[in-house]
Amino acid sequence: MSSGLPNEAGTPRWPGLIEAYRHLLPVGSQMPVVTLLEGNTPLVPSRALGKRLGRRLWFKVEGANPTGSFKDRGMTLAVSRAVEARSPGVVCASTGNTAASAAAYAARAGLRCVVIVPAEGVAVGKLVQALAHGATMVPVEGTFDRARELAEEAAGRLGLTIVNSTNPDRVDGQQTVAWEICDRLGQAPDLIALPVGNAGNITAVWQGLLAYRKQGTLHDLPRLLGVQAAGAAPFIEGRPIAAPRTVASAIRVGNPASWQPAVLAVESSKGSFHRVSDEEILGAQQLLAREEGLFVEPASAAPVASLLRLAAEQALPPGDVVVAILTGHGLKDVETALGRLRMPDPVPATFEAVAAVVNSVDAG
Ligand code: F0G
Repeated sequence: MSSGLPNEAGTPRWPGLIEAYRHLLPVGSQMPVVTLLEGNTPLVPSRALGKRLGRRLWFKVEGANPTGSFKDRGMTLAVSRAVEARSPGVVCASTGNTAASAAAYAARAGLRCVVIVPAEGVAVGKLVQALAHGATMVPVEGTFDRARELAEEAAGRLGLTIVNSTNPDRVDGQQTVAWEICDRLGQAPDLIALPVGNAGNITAVWQGLLAYRKQGTLHDLPRLLGVQAAGAAPFIEGRPIAAPRTVASAIRVGNPASWQPAVLAVESSKGSFHRVSDEEILGAQQLLAREEGLFVEPASAAPVASLLRLAAEQALPPGDVVVAILTGHGLKDVETALGRLRMPDPVPATFEAVAAVVNSVDAG
């Protein structure tokens, strides 16, 4: 970690990812750093679900990043590079989180930001984030995969920098999650489980692990478990899905941009792809919230759903230490969560009315 002013406790401040991992990232000393002090997210030991797996389980809580998802890791580097290159602005296609992150970092840098999103199905919280940061939002009547094609075209024809994960800076930045996991554990886990949509993140995690092995920090690398939603599972089906469907809108992707590198990552790691139903995803989301105190968006619950099913089927890959990457915060998508919760009716503002509700819950 590079030096920062000490805080009140005398410990150095976290300087953000680029400064923390500058020695491992392809950045020159002259690059202007656009940061919201992303990274350094909690690696929380499981209290309850690890017991069900019969494994030591940790959660990498990526919702603790500044815009509430792991996308900030790649965005700090991609937007810094755009500023260095004197780009007039950035553009991305998104199921929501990339848009929110790009908008925030572009705002920080004083750059223009264009986000192209599918008109249907993106969680409102993410759209509000992008708008709040002043992005130009273009909802298109098509899928994320079509939006991605349009973003590439817009980048070329409008002279904007693309900040989807086809931009290598995004992948370079996102590998830091693998480094943080290994740094905090003091070793590599045996298994890393994560959701897969456009497949940039699984590609980045593997790239990070390979880099740590190359420099001698790691010897054995973990298996990767890439988890898709059943209705949007091109890696399981072995072909693009024209009309992907899932409640986990973040990973509603039918034709992932990083298809080949993701397959290579999973195969090289001796890992696998797995798919889980929407019901399993929402069940895992509820378990995380109620038994671990971790509220994540549906996509982020997919790897936990997968681990629970594999454990129930006695099919968990070997190894004792498991990390699930919880990619985004639950507050991103409150509509979906509300579908399974009951908002209580108001009562008179008296102690008796409050006590009646409390007692009815105790009785019930
Ligand atoms: N989890 C969350 C919360 C996501 O937002 C995404 C992707 C993924 C997992 C999957 O990561 O695409 O690298 O395989 N969201 C993209 C977006 C598609 O536009 O925000 P991936």
